[in-house]
Amino acid sequence: MKIFITKKIPQKGIDLLKSAGHDLTIHDSSTPLSETELIKASQQADYVLNGGMQKFDANFFQNCPNLKALSLMSVGYDNVDISAATQHGIPVSNTPGILSGATADVAFLLMLSVSRKAFFNHKRILQGEWKGFDPTANLGIELNNKTLGIYGLGRIGFEFARKAKAAYNMEIIYYNRSRNEEAEQILGARYVNFDDLLTQSDVLSIHAALTAETKNRFDKNTFTRMKNSAILVNTARGGLVNELDLTEALQTGQLWGAGLDVTDPEPMDPKNPLLTMENVCVLPHIGSATVETRDNMALMAASNLLAAIKGEKMPQIINKEVYP
Ligand code: DGY
Repeated sequence: MKIFITKKIPQKGIDLLKSAGHDLTIHDSSTPLSETELIKASQQADYVLNGGMQKFDANFFQNCPNLKALSLMSVGYDNVDISAATQHGIPVSNTPGILSGATADVAFLLMLSVSRKAFFNHKRILQGEWKGFDPTANLGIELNNKTLGIYGLGRIGFEFARKAKAAYNMEIIYYNRSRNEEAEQILGARYVNFDDLLTQSDVLSIHAALTAETKNRFDKNTFTRMKNSAILVNTARGGLVNELDLTEALQTGQLWGAGLDVTDPEPMDPKNPLLTMENVCVLPHIGSATVETRDNMALMAASNLLAAIKGEKMPQIINKEVYP
């Protein structure tokens, strides 16, 4: 079978597909494909594995009538028009679960880095501004016994809450579409409404999917409800936060700090004022970027595709309704 891979993925995934005898074409470049290039390359394939952040909209599915399945090497699928895929009978799979620990680590890293202004102080050294020890300068805030609010307590949110509780005995509150009994039992997490999440959190961490409903969920209105001493962490998708409103909230002291692994748009403009702020830490979407996790994601994405090729259900299917 002909498989098109939209970006170079870890060798383990490639080897698995090759060992099954398939013919691979890999877009091995740091430049993402244009919409036309993506369609053209996918038209020549039976299956597509998405290793990057390409968008698969209704036009894509309309123009690739021979496509049999799409496997994403990501847990997020906001870049795919799932209902269009389903209408065209295309199963789409993702890679849930295996990246929870690595992504929760990045949320933890950002929370701690923001609380101690780590990135800003690193930049000051580079700029020759470390002049000596000053008892009143560079003061951060501590996390012990503070309240961690989780927006979207799924697997990643749970992992982050578990680490924060173990490290700092943080009280966990969460807002979700449904109750998470495991988190309530194991972490003593308390289910709250959205307003209580905003007003009670010392650190508020976003772990929900980007949908029409969650787009810009964190904006001027929500920031005015939050504590002035609060830190916002986002390792989910940049689109959940209105970045201009966030910038203003940080500039006016409405919020204390922010840690972002995801931005809107990505990549972030290097001139973005958030990058110069003392209490802001930004990373280039590296939540799942460890050797172990990326290997596992590549293997899972390849296995999903191999199942589809064999005529089986993709194990991590997103649009189950595509199967009779
Ligand atoms: C994911 O898996 O969704 C990560 O954010 C990488 O896209």
